[in-house]
Amino acid sequence: MTSTENATNASHATNASHATNGSHATNGSHATNGSHATNGSHAANTSHAATVTAAVSPTAAPGPAPDAGASSEAVVCRGLEYSFHGRRSKSTKAVDGVDLIVRTGEVFGLLGPNGAGKTTTIRAITTLLPVPSGMVQVFGYDTARRRMEVRRLLGYVPQQLSAEAGLTGRENVALFARVFDVPHAERAERVAQALAAVDLTEAADRMCGTYSGGMVRRLELAQALVSAPRLLVLDEPTIGLDPIARTSVWECIDAVRRATGMTVLVTTHYMDEADQYCDRLGLMDRGKIRALGTPEELKSWVREQAPEHPDPSLDDVFRHFAGRDLARGQASEGDFRDVRRTRRTASRVG
Ligand SMILES: Nc1ncnc2c1ncn2[C@@H]1O[C@H](COP(=O)(O)OP(=O)(O)OP(=O)(O)O)[C@@H](O)[C@H]1O
Ligand SMILES: [Mg+2]
Repeated sequence: MTSTENATNASHATNASHATNGSHATNGSHATNGSHATNGSHAANTSHAATVTAAVSPTAAPGPAPDAGASSEAVVCRGLEYSFHGRRSKSTKAVDGVDLIVRTGEVFGLLGPNGAGKTTTIRAITTLLPVPSGMVQVFGYDTARRRMEVRRLLGYVPQQLSAEAGLTGRENVALFARVFDVPHAERAERVAQALAAVDLTEAADRMCGTYSGGMVRRLELAQALVSAPRLLVLDEPTIGLDPIARTSVWECIDAVRRATGMTVLVTTHYMDEADQYCDRLGLMDRGKIRALGTPEELKSWVREQAPEHPDPSLDDVFRHFAGRDLARGQASEGDFRDVRRTRRTASRVG
């Protein structure tokens, strides 16, 4: 797949097939909407803040949305369901009644094992999948009826590779600037600023194929930031990276968010990252949100409910709410696809 196709996929493609019309399911199990608390443990990296502000100041707020009943929230999902129908296999209910709110300006982490339904949820929020049952709004716009408005507000770094090895870093970001309609006169400057924001100025004119895994991921971040999104959606931004590269990706995300107030929705398997960088978390398993809250709220609930865990980690929290370890994936015919996809993603950035 070329980067043009990837860019188009990320921004405009819609996979309308395989939609089911399941009934609205309410997820009642343990889901609690904790109050917004800022996690004080964000990495204090403001070195790129000035550049970042210029590069990615969120687009002007859109005019009043006709369906903007919840426009103070960045994302609202109500009773979201999605099933995949295989030709030979039975259908897989990937998302099973997800209720979720991402508040404007927060970093929200969606956590869960392989096959939990994180990517499917993200793809519904980014309008890349239809919403056959339930409702999704982004800044008050219903994704089913106001798809283009939603897409203009989003930057998306998909789980799979979205950069082209045969182009330079600058060319890759410029391609996204074109696809996302950054005004021609501003393009070169905005591309340079986005590259600076992820610390790739020096490597900007090298072929992307020569980049390390961490550099590729930061380049993909620049691609998503060049359109100055109000909501940045990242699917496994650090998978397969070493600890130093993981930290540098998070520091870039954190610096941009601090400089612009942009909302961030991120999926990850890494509990330590979630604990350190996310304001609130949703723990997802088998298509359902099992718990919602700040890392501290989640841990204190476990402390209260499970005295055998006086000092619980997020792994303990996940085990408590999901009834099993995060490391253990979903036992279903989806496993092979999950492993193949994860390995492909890890190896191309590793
Ligand atoms: N295109 C597809 N066709 C059929 N089933 C799919 C497809 N994509 C995902 N699934 C199935 O839907 C379920 C949820 O998958 P999803 O990719 O949303 O999980 P995930 O939480 O993102 O997992 P991972 O951590 O491995 O990325 C899994 O059982 C998976 O096998
Ligand atoms: Mg995924």
